[in-house]
Amino acid sequence: MTIELTVRKTCKRHRINTDLLLRRGRWLLRLNKVQDHTLSLLLIDDQEMSGLNAQWRHKPGPTNVLSFPSESATDPGLAGLGLKELGDIVISVDTAAREAEQYHETLHQRLTWLITHGLLHLLGMDHERSEGEAQAMYLREQQLIQQLQHAKDSTMTQLAINVDHVATIRQARGITEPDPVTAAAICELAGAAGIVVHLREDRRHIQDRDVHLLRQTIKTKMNLEMGAAREIIDIALALKPDMVTLVPEKRLELTTEGGLNVSGQKKKLGATIEEMSRAGIPVSLFIDPDSKQIKAARAIGATFVEIHTGRYCDATSEQERDLEFRLIAQAAEEAYDLGLRVNAGHGLDYQTTARIAALDSIEELSIGHAIITRAVFTGLDQAVREMHQIIREASRLG
Ligand code: PXP
Repeated sequence: MTIELTVRKTCKRHRINTDLLLRRGRWLLRLNKVQDHTLSLLLIDDQEMSGLNAQWRHKPGPTNVLSFPSESATDPGLAGLGLKELGDIVISVDTAAREAEQYHETLHQRLTWLITHGLLHLLGMDHERSEGEAQAMYLREQQLIQQLQHAKDSTMTQLAINVDHVATIRQARGITEPDPVTAAAICELAGAAGIVVHLREDRRHIQDRDVHLLRQTIKTKMNLEMGAAREIIDIALALKPDMVTLVPEKRLELTTEGGLNVSGQKKKLGATIEEMSRAGIPVSLFIDPDSKQIKAARAIGATFVEIHTGRYCDATSEQERDLEFRLIAQAAEEAYDLGLRVNAGHGLDYQTTARIAALDSIEELSIGHAIITRAVFTGLDQAVREMHQIIREASRLG
């Protein structure tokens, strides 16, 4: 299956993720069982679209999408040559961007819908023919977009494991075992792509000794979770982990309770990001799935956001869980569209992880409690492998 994607230079003012569009295009071909065909996607501006709209539809001004079926679909001579071309979908990115704003969607959600719409035209559906066809086409579009939410094929979501609670057990006795450093090595051997530890100001679990040893022994990636407190910032700057995740920290909480109020602390968090950047440490901000916080994170120069999945995991009804899931999906997409890298975590377990792992724009999941508690019964290696398997399957298929 081949998709030729051409983006005109005149569209460069829009931030377009061609990898994402190609991935979605391939999934749409697969979902429509036409993966042995080639498809051409052309992204143009309003001016060029106005010309095409006048030439082919005798209508003034631009339109959002035009589909041109391939002659090989109708010409038996060309079909006989083995050419399986579906045709061309031409989209005006200027119009798509205006529509995205109007419908409160991200540009890539709108472009995805337009590709879906154009593809259905190429496959013979036409909403202009009758009411019945318009309804059928609308329903098919909805169905495909929903399936796409769970579709992902090229980049697998990574599993980063938080080993804080190995240290929690150690601290309960105040001795040297179990050691989070040993736990991190087992997690890596079992397939983890990164290790996360939260060095809290109260040192209730992870200790300074742990972070120093982990910095020397972690083979994958060390993500230091921390509050933006001077003492911890200085430790991070000296330690130079692969990245830090800034979280809100309250003395009396059992675990991190909510996301950061980035928009209310732009100056303080911005200054911490600045310091980290100078030391070459990328910063992730742990935030609720909230557009205001995403925009603020982007504005102050964060590299990543980690979207808080706690409310989704704690939901007590299917309806509430669906609602929370949609908020996460929308937030992840918005952050991705703004050029942020997107992680997610908190409360994820062996039931709730698959759906989040299937989201296209999420790069990495940070999971701790569920894996460490399962490890008590199954062993850490097995607990990590089971979670890894869930994420791998979800990333591939949804
Ligand atoms: N992400 C962040 C920012 C966290 O604070 C935590 C908890 O330490 C996690 C992820 C992992 O959450 P859980 O232990 O519930 O998997």
